Amino acid sequence: MYTRPRILRRTAAIRGMVRETILTPADFIAPLFIEEGEGQEKEIPSLPGYYRRSLDLTIKEVESLWSLGIKSVLLFVKVEEADKDNLGTEALNDLGLMQRSIRAIKQAIPDICVMTDVALDPYSSYGHDGIVEDGVIINDRSADVLAKMAVSHAMAGADFVAPSDMMDGRISLIREGLELEGFHETGIMSYSAKYASSFYGPFRDALDSAPKFGDKKTYQMDPANRIEALKEVYLDIEEGADIVMVKPALSYLDIIREVKNQSQVPVSAYNVSGEYAMIKAAAKQGWLDEQAAMWESILSIKRAGADLIASYFAKTIAEQL
Ligand code: PBG
Repeated sequence: MYTRPRILRRTAAIRGMVRETILTPADFIAPLFIEEGEGQEKEIPSLPGYYRRSLDLTIKEVESLWSLGIKSVLLFVKVEEADKDNLGTEALNDLGLMQRSIRAIKQAIPDICVMTDVALDPYSSYGHDGIVEDGVIINDRSADVLAKMAVSHAMAGADFVAPSDMMDGRISLIREGLELEGFHETGIMSYSAKYASSFYGPFRDALDSAPKFGDKKTYQMDPANRIEALKEVYLDIEEGADIVMVKPALSYLDIIREVKNQSQVPVSAYNVSGEYAMIKAAAKQGWLDEQAAMWESILSIKRAGADLIASYFAKTIAEQL
């Protein structure tokens, strides 16, 4: 009796025939950083090759992503320092940068799926995802504001709202808020299992949104926990989440797989800023082959069970597919 597994690896054609995991542009969600102004395109130093753009140039970028077959963008805005406060007041401004961006993108490229970040940190004078009282990020008032924020995005035309804050109960409040205002078709992609990770640094540089005191460990999850991720996912689905997310991706592939096995909704994973930055930095030093490392890490996220991948590599991948 002979078994020769290498037969299936012998040529590129054979490897292509038996490959189990295939990527397509439709697997990707492209995160976009938007700032005020016109004609602005600024490279983010800790995210080499990634830019924060004014709305006019963002629209051009979305057109190009759409033409490459990417079906979804995830919007984040950089809020002017003067517009930040503890209550996230600007987050509810119907004429705010987020709301204007949603309208403009949906008008220019109506068929693309526009997803929006729902959390207070870019709007918060404390850089926290909720309202701060006596040094504590309070839950229920924060969740109330997040629900209003989600409605405001839906009103501007968002296809999906994506709460990334980790307040308890916010999915049901958001769903209820959307229903009461008649937005029965607006989806919720919940950052369900979002860990208190060291890999968010470059993102916070991009939006100038780092916490001004403490850390996010009282609301984001402990990286040591696995069962708790399943609890969060279970609760979010019960509360009405249409898509659940695991974030970050690469240090949490086991969580992605477990969530995929145990839930009946699409699972997304966020290949976060630090994961992108590590590959870029090592490649710049000549220590890693950037392209090979990119493909391998993205493939591993899909193989782990992610149906959708939010990644700063989305455009590069789509260009090469
Ligand atoms: C904030 C938010 C963060 C990211 C997405 N939404 C940062 C944080 O929680 O501090 C991180 C994304 C990335 O690192 O690419 N609500």
